[in-house]
Amino acid sequence: MTARIRIEGLCKSFAAPVLEEVNLQIMPGRIHGLVGENGAGKSTLINIISGLLSADAGTLELNGQVYRAPSRPQALQQGIALAAQELSLIDTLSVAENIFLSALPQNFMTVDRASLRKHAEELMAQVGLLAMSAHTPVAKLALAEKQLVEMAKALSMPADNCQLLILDEPASALTTPQVEKLHQILRERVATGLSIIYVSHRLDDVLSVCDDVSVLRDGIIVSTAPTTYLTANDLITAMCGQDLLEHRESSLRQAGDLRLKVDQLSSAIFPQSVSFECRRGEILGIAGLAGAGRSELLHTIFGLAPDRQGRVVLLNEGTEVEVRTASEAVKQGMALIAEDRKTQGNFADKPVSLNTTIAGLGKLGVALAVLLPRREERVSKELIDRLQVKCEGPRQSIDRLSGGNQQKVLLARWLQTESDVWLLDEPTRGVDVASKLTIHEQLRELRDLGACLLIVSSELEELTALCDRILVLSNRKVVATFEGGQWSNEQLLAEMFSAHRGQRAVNH
Ligand SMILES: Nc1ncnc2c1ncn2[C@@H]1O[C@H](COP(=O)(O)OP(=O)(O)OP(=O)(O)O)[C@@H](O)[C@H]1O
Ligand SMILES: [Mg+2]
Repeated sequence: MTARIRIEGLCKSFAAPVLEEVNLQIMPGRIHGLVGENGAGKSTLINIISGLLSADAGTLELNGQVYRAPSRPQALQQGIALAAQELSLIDTLSVAENIFLSALPQNFMTVDRASLRKHAEELMAQVGLLAMSAHTPVAKLALAEKQLVEMAKALSMPADNCQLLILDEPASALTTPQVEKLHQILRERVATGLSIIYVSHRLDDVLSVCDDVSVLRDGIIVSTAPTTYLTANDLITAMCGQDLLEHRESSLRQAGDLRLKVDQLSSAIFPQSVSFECRRGEILGIAGLAGAGRSELLHTIFGLAPDRQGRVVLLNEGTEVEVRTASEAVKQGMALIAEDRKTQGNFADKPVSLNTTIAGLGKLGVALAVLLPRREERVSKELIDRLQVKCEGPRQSIDRLSGGNQQKVLLARWLQTESDVWLLDEPTRGVDVASKLTIHEQLRELRDLGACLLIVSSELEELTALCDRILVLSNRKVVATFEGGQWSNEQLLAEMFSAHRGQRAVNH
């Protein structure tokens, strides 16, 4: 059988070699997984296939013919679509316009808006965006929703010319039911002969949806095999050249004094009032489906939501301070690490050094960073080492880093502040397995030093590995609290769905 795409001797260097003599074949009608540590070269490889980057050497064939794609539209024309890791959506356009951006006629006046909308809504329904109008501006969407729009956009390629669909971390912000739905669509699509490349750090997802999987390590394909007989551990060993032993908590610890009290809190974005407490030395997990209000709850606590009612009180050695605004929150030791690094996190065109240290530099941050580059670089270097950020050095611009490494920079920035109340929204999104364990260690260290941590994660395994207690949200309400490891994935999922029982499923 002729390979759908055959890659031979592909090389690419930036400052250093990123891909070295990569050989790879993707067969028709198969889902091919691509895994590797942050910075291994996965995005670079698929960006070359989809026309975003050019290779330095090597050949590509599509269905046995020489394949060249000097730009993304040219790749698309030949039937190769990409759902990008750093999403390619335009915030100011509507969902429908984004989905058909590359297919829109040049003259906007001739766009048939009614049929555009209808077709967009079909695609949106397929990926599970049921309750949303196609006219919604993308800026208003949560990250998981944006990821689904990116998917709908990739799926909008006309079926008669559809050869290869490339998905770069398509599910990093999605919850378990959304991932299952996505996998179901992918299985349906490959049954028609389409080929798919699926990049992910969620190894269980890769093993469940892919037919084959290749492991990329430092720019070299170190193994390619059918997934049938592989385990997640086999993949990890191939990815990092060693076995990783996951740290497990052996016994329950005693939490310390009360540090955070949330009392009858509500806001325009989290309308049902909620009350709970968190102690020093405690990690409190927040579970819920997409749209359950997890990020909204963190934003409300941090003072970023309009119409806030109720109280957020920080207790410290007998004193109580009420915090009302984000700047008061920061002053009192609270830190919020937002989910979407692209719009809320990093300073895109600034160096790694500034991006790691800015939170610790205070108000005059940017000005000082310009005046004191040496100090900044030293601090930054320590942080880079601590979280194993793969980059050329503190002076490299952050948008040149791989997706997972950008996430680590965002975390590093906050880890050097003196915060002791942490609100973390998907702290390990897009981060590889080894780095994830390092980050978990750092979070446990903070906890053991007496911090109190609130963690939102879509991965139930992550919540189970880290949390002392879990609050479950369903439809913007707290529906359950599980204490000290007394939960199972099934119980969490049942609670996550509880407010939707008897209703038409929305957005799962
Ligand atoms: N435009 C660029 N300029 C310089 N270096 C780059 C550029 N793009 C990528 N790199 C470097 O190439 C290496 C591979 O990056 P790539 O994005 O392909 O990794 P990845 O495997 O997709 O990682 P992740 O899992 O974090 O997404 C990284 O070290 C990155 O810093
Ligand atoms: Mg990548």
